[in-house]
Order: sequence, then structure tokens, then C-alpha cells
Amino acid sequence: MKEVLGLLAVWSIVLSGLTLLLGLYFIRRGRREAHHRSMLVATGLAALFLVFYLAKWALHGTTLYGGPEAWRGAYYALLITHTLLAALNGPLALYVIYNALKGRFSVHKRWARWLVPIWLYVAVSGWVIYLVLKRYGVEAGTIAF
Ligand code: HEM
Repeated sequence: MKEVLGLLAVWSIVLSGLTLLLGLYFIRRGRREAHHRSMLVATGLAALFLVFYLAKWALHGTTLYGGPEAWRGAYYALLITHTLLAALNGPLALYVIYNALKGRFSVHKRWARWLVPIWLYVAVSGWVIYLVLKRYGVEAGTIAF
């Protein structure tokens, strides 16, 4: 179960990054309707990621880094920036979509240009963290309340 939830989480965040790139491609080609749909799919996949990730965390707890000491600092820098930016990504995405749906496209574009690199960073770093923990992860168990 744990492995399945981990796989579902990592694939949904990676696919959300890919649909985001597809949405960007569409708007650059002036295909607004396709852009609209791709971005909503990207957002749905990111929301699914959150569901799978939280389910895994609640059922199986966290995994700690148990790899080479020389890489510990780099790993935690990646993990912390990933987590902070993932938390920022949610409200920023809602704001960007809200402005698009209201037809305020200049505000939409201004914030979307920040959102896209943040989203891609979260998707790529999520994948890297998954691979690192698959190799060097140490089970820490669930937190008892
Ligand atoms: C998380 C969701 C979204 C992201 C990350 C996003 C991203 C972007 C980006 C980066 C641009 C600027 C492209 C460029 O300058 O070449 C853009 C433009 C645009 N977006 Fe989105 N978008 C999202 C959702 C939507 C939705 C839901 C709609 C439809 C209501 C929409 C409609 C548009 C339109 C019409 C433009 C062109 C605006 C113009 O050129 O004046 N977007 N979007």
C-alpha cells in the first residue's frame, strides 16, 4: 500500500508538471481553450498529489534520509525548498486561475510567470526526493498523537 501511494503521488506531481508545460505550449500558440483545459488538468493532478501524499503520510508516517553524510545538507535544502514552494504553489495557483476566469488576463499573466517556474521546481524536486528516499530512505513510522 505504501509503495502504491508513493508511486501515485510521484506520478501525479510529475504529470501535473508535464500538463503545465503543455498548457504553456498551447498559450504560446494562441490556443486559449486548450490552455484553459490543460491548466485545469494540471491543477487537478496537483490536488491529487496532495491527497496521495497526505494519505501516505497519515497511514505510514515519514521517511528520513539515511544516505551519505556529505549529501545530507543538500538533501534537506532540497526538501525544505520543495515543501515551502509546494505550500506557496496552492494559493498562488488559485489566485492565477481566479483571475483568468474573471477575464483579468494581465494580472493572470503577471502572476502566472512566477507560478510556472515554482510549479516546475516543485514537480522536479518531488521526483528527485522520491528517488533519493527510494535508495536511502529510513522508515520513521507514524507520529503518535
Ligand atoms: C494554474 C493554471 C494556469 C497557469 C499556470 C497559467 C499560465 C499562463 C501563462 C504563463 C500565461 C502567459 C503566457 C505567455 O506570456 O506567453 C498565460 C496566459 C493566458 N492564460 Fe493562463 N494559466 C492558467 C490557467 C488559465 C485558465 C484556467 C484560463 C482560462 C480561463 C487561462 C487563460 C489564459 C489566457 C486567455 C492567456 C493569454 C492572456 C493574454 O495573452 O492576454 N489560463 N497563462
